[in-house]
Amino acid sequence: MTHSYDTTSALRAAEHVDPARLLDSIDALATIGARADGGVDRPALSALDIDARRGLIERAQALGCTVSTDACANLFFRRPGNEDLPPVMTGSHIDTQPTGGRLDGAYGVLAGFECLAALADAGVRTRRPLEVAIWTNEEGSRFQPGAMGSSSFVDPARLAGYRSVRDAAGVTFGATLDAHRAAFPSLDTRASGAVHAFIELHIEQGPLLELADTPLGVVTGIQGVRWHSIRCTGAAAHAGTTPMRVRRDAMTLAVHVRGAIETFALELGGDAARITFGSWRVEPNSINTIPSAVTFTVDFRHPDPAVLASFDAALADCIAQHRTDVHLEPLFEHPPVHFAESAIERVRAACVALGARSQPIVSGAFHDALHLAKHCPTAMIFVPSRGGISHNPLEATDDVHLVSGTRALAHCLVELCNEAR
Ligand code: GLV
Ligand code: MN
Ligand code: MN
Repeated sequence: MTHSYDTTSALRAAEHVDPARLLDSIDALATIGARADGGVDRPALSALDIDARRGLIERAQALGCTVSTDACANLFFRRPGNEDLPPVMTGSHIDTQPTGGRLDGAYGVLAGFECLAALADAGVRTRRPLEVAIWTNEEGSRFQPGAMGSSSFVDPARLAGYRSVRDAAGVTFGATLDAHRAAFPSLDTRASGAVHAFIELHIEQGPLLELADTPLGVVTGIQGVRWHSIRCTGAAAHAGTTPMRVRRDAMTLAVHVRGAIETFALELGGDAARITFGSWRVEPNSINTIPSAVTFTVDFRHPDPAVLASFDAALADCIAQHRTDVHLEPLFEHPPVHFAESAIERVRAACVALGARSQPIVSGAFHDALHLAKHCPTAMIFVPSRGGISHNPLEATDDVHLVSGTRALAHCLVELCNEAR
C-alpha cells in the first residue's frame, strides 16, 4: 500500500493539540512529589519517579503505543509508522531538582504525550514511527553526572561506570536500575538504535525570551559545561580552645579556594561566564569543632571552547598550589554543541507554518539533547520562563506559551516522521 504525505497532516496534528488535556496532564504529574510550596521534589528513580512512570506507561498503552525500556531505565513510548524505518524521537526527563518546579523536563515529556494523542485524534498516520522518551536522571542532583540515561543511550559503554555511583544515602545507581526493572517486569528491554531525528521541547529556564517578548525559541545549541568535586582537608580541633594561628580549618581553605576559582572564572569568561558552587559537605559538621574536611562542587559553563580550556588550565594550577590539602575529582564535562542545521530548520519552519514569532537562542542549561546530538540530527524548542526562574518551585510558563510550544512540536514531529530519508 502506498501513502502520500503532505504538509496538511502536520498542521492538522498541531490543531488537534488540546490545551485542557495538556495542562491537566502537567497538573497531574506535579502531584507526584508535590512540595507544600507548589514545587516538585521527585528524585531520579525514587519511588515517586517509579509511580509517575507507571501512570505514563498506562496512558501510553491506552493510546495504543508499545512501551519498552533499556539497561539505563529509559522508557520509550512508540507510535507505529507505516514503514519500518528509524523513528523520530521527542521527550525529556521527569526527575526534578530537590526544589524543582513543575515544568523542567516534565513539560517536554507531557507535550510529547499530547502529540501522540493529537495525532490519534487527527487520524494522522506517519511514514516513520514516533517515539516519546523519558530519559533517566537528567538532573544529576541525586546521582552525578546528570543525563545518565541519554548519555548511555548514545554511548552504552558509559553505563558500567554509572552503576557504581552512590547517592547521598549510599544507594548505588545500579541498585535503583534493578529496582526499576523489578517494578516493570513485563516491559521489553531494547538496545540503543538508529534514530532519524530528536526534538526536545523545554522551558527556557532563563529570561531571554520573556525579555524579548518572543513566544518560541529555536535552539541552535547548548553551551559547554564542567562539573567538579573539590575536597579540602584540615584537622578537627576544639572551637573554644584552639588558637586561630595553629588551626588547620578545612572551611577556611575551602572558602579561599572557592574565591580564587570564582575570580579567574569571571576574568576568563566575562559576562557569559556562569560559575556556581551549589553543594557543600562539611565534616564533622558540628558547631564547636573546626571542620576537618569540606567537599564542594563547581559548575562552570561557557559557550566558548577556548574559555573552557583556559578555565581547565587555571583550575589545575589552583589545585596544584595546595597539592596536599586540596583534591579535585572531575565529575562531568561537555564541549559546546551546535545542533544540526536540518533539525534547526524543521523547528524554524514549524514556527513559521503556525504563524508564531520565534528567535534563535543558545541554551544555558544542558539537556538530554546535548547527548542525542551525537547520535542523530537534534534540535530543541524553548518556551519562555516567567521571570526567567527555574530550579525553583516558582518556575512557571504562561499556558498560551505551553500550548504554542506543543503545537510547534507536533508540527515538527509530523514533518520529520514523513521524511523518506
Ligand atoms: C540541567 O538541569 C542543568 O544543570 O543545566
Ligand atoms: Mn530539564
Ligand atoms: Mn533541570
